[in-house]
Amino acid sequence: MRIIKVKNYEEMSKIAADIIAAQITLHPQTVLGLATGSTPIGTYERLIELCNNGDVDFSQVTTINLDEYCDLDPTHEQSYRYFMNKHLLTKVNIDLENTHVPNGKAADIDAECKRYDELIQKKGGIDLQLLGIGHNGHIGFNEPSDEFVMGTHCVNLKESTINANSRFFNTTDDVPKRAITMGIKPIMQAGRILLIASGDDKKDILKKALFGPVTPLVPASILQLHKNLIVVTPLDL
Ligand code: PGA
Repeated sequence: MRIIKVKNYEEMSKIAADIIAAQITLHPQTVLGLATGSTPIGTYERLIELCNNGDVDFSQVTTINLDEYCDLDPTHEQSYRYFMNKHLLTKVNIDLENTHVPNGKAADIDAECKRYDELIQKKGGIDLQLLGIGHNGHIGFNEPSDEFVMGTHCVNLKESTINANSRFFNTTDDVPKRAITMGIKPIMQAGRILLIASGDDKKDILKKALFGPVTPLVPASILQLHKNLIVVTPLDL
């Protein structure tokens, strides 16, 4: 594990974007695993800037997102497809056909999970996976549980996650209660993992994840076993 300690959110975003841009420059056909949430927004802004300046070229890149709410249309402002299009994908020179987010509106959720796993496999796995961490240690929507779930699956979101996400909805009742998430296996099989976290409220869980016991009760703790994990954070660990 390599921890890059930075000054603040801005520097974290710049370094994370530079790592992603370097990956794309070295391997133009990179498969990027992407995340949503407030943490990566600055990273995406910086990537857009690099792309506009001609310093990174997304034309051959494929993106595979970690997760999506069930029952939200991709045009819904709080859907993760909408988020990705708004914060990155429609602002860089990527072919939108090569960008993937689970379909939370699929009539057959199990079939959709299977399709997503097959898609990841067909693309040869993820080269670089960008991750944030939830207050309960979740990665993607792999919530604390008594086992690590390997493949893409549908989860009932924990109350703490629903509450954390309610800031984006009119009322807590409007927050979807289920989501589709990539499992632990493709995350751990990614060539490189880039974990970013900022804000004092993330300090305790980040410490637990990186230095505590490896347990599905803190899903991000599995990342300790990855051979190429880079953590970029302004937090004192
Ligand atoms: P946040 O979410 O970036 O909005 O804090 C992170 C996560 O839940 O993975």
